[in-house]
Amino acid sequence: MTRYAAITGVGSYLPPRLVPNQWFESFVDTNDAWIRDRTGIEARHFADDGVVTSDLALEATRSAMAAAGIEAHQIDMILVATITGDTVFPATAVWLQEKLGVQCPSFDVNAACAGFSYALSTANAFVTSGMADTIVVIGAEIFSRILDYTDRGTCVLFGDGAGAAVVQASDAPGFEGAVLGADGSAAQILWMPAGGVRTPPSHATVDANDHTVRMPNGREVFKRAVTEMAAACRELLEKSGLTVDDVDVLIPHQANARIMGAVVDRLGIDPAKAVVDVAEVGNTSAASIPIALDRAWRAGRIRTGDRVLLTSFGAGLTWAATLVRWTMAEPPA
Ligand code: ACO
Repeated sequence: MTRYAAITGVGSYLPPRLVPNQWFESFVDTNDAWIRDRTGIEARHFADDGVVTSDLALEATRSAMAAAGIEAHQIDMILVATITGDTVFPATAVWLQEKLGVQCPSFDVNAACAGFSYALSTANAFVTSGMADTIVVIGAEIFSRILDYTDRGTCVLFGDGAGAAVVQASDAPGFEGAVLGADGSAAQILWMPAGGVRTPPSHATVDANDHTVRMPNGREVFKRAVTEMAAACRELLEKSGLTVDDVDVLIPHQANARIMGAVVDRLGIDPAKAVVDVAEVGNTSAASIPIALDRAWRAGRIRTGDRVLLTSFGAGLTWAATLVRWTMAEPPA
């Protein structure tokens, strides 16, 4: 009998501190109306000092485990997608493993905002090959710690949070295909210049604010995000012999409402099928897809048997489209 993989539980966690757009007005030249109009973002959640990425990942994982009805001892692999990990090394996945009180293969996936999609495909490969039965896949970020609060073009865009999925062996296919892509030639349109071995930390890098997000050309990022997400979705649908009419729910990377609107237009999909949940979350990078997925399921927008199309784009550049067949039951009332 063919061995498949499926998502059997999802969960998410947003730290309690809600930061409205107005908060930025006191230190950069911006305003609530501009941010809402250009991004659809009204507020975002920021983690308090002392809270680390694996703490957010732990909350999201516990919620996904409860939804899947599994105990920690059943987990035989942990994959964390993040670019704002607890430490450069070891991986955030091992800090999380310690907090979960288990021992199993654990590693991080660094593909920025596309990280969760990359990790989901990795989990699918491990499960369908028989190397693992139960994998927790988490996207978790604390972007508030790597923002340049003097740069109005980036600091207003991002938020903190975590989302998780339990991926388990299944008799029926829960994944119907994926397209992953990357283009390293454009790495410097969205990156952090210092902190790695290319430019190790020094007084000069700290003084130059080089340990923060750099996006010198937001418009170019916008264009590429729309082009690559739409192209990846089209390629995946074509390969699968499907059209947008066969998709029940579209979950685009929650970067901003205008990017998502442009992807919907380009795909020609019914806008009512698209989940846009950026208003009080912001762009949470690798956590964006699993947070939106969990919140959409709990809001009753995803039903058993639905075909869900996930698409993401981020630094690297990296992008992905993934077709998920929803096998989970309705959420608890
Ligand atoms: N408040 C007020 N004005 C601002 C702000 C702000 N927060 N940020 C930029 N501006 C100004 C610019 O300085 C510029 O002023 P100027 O005309 O005097 O030079 C003006 O607004 C227009 O700037 P643009 O960058 O052309 O504005 P645009 O309409 O492109 O919106 C934005 C900017 C929102 C960043 C857009 O380019 C975008 O969404 N890009 C995608 C970026 C993104 O989402 N990155 C996240 C990571 S990648 C990903 O997740 C997909």
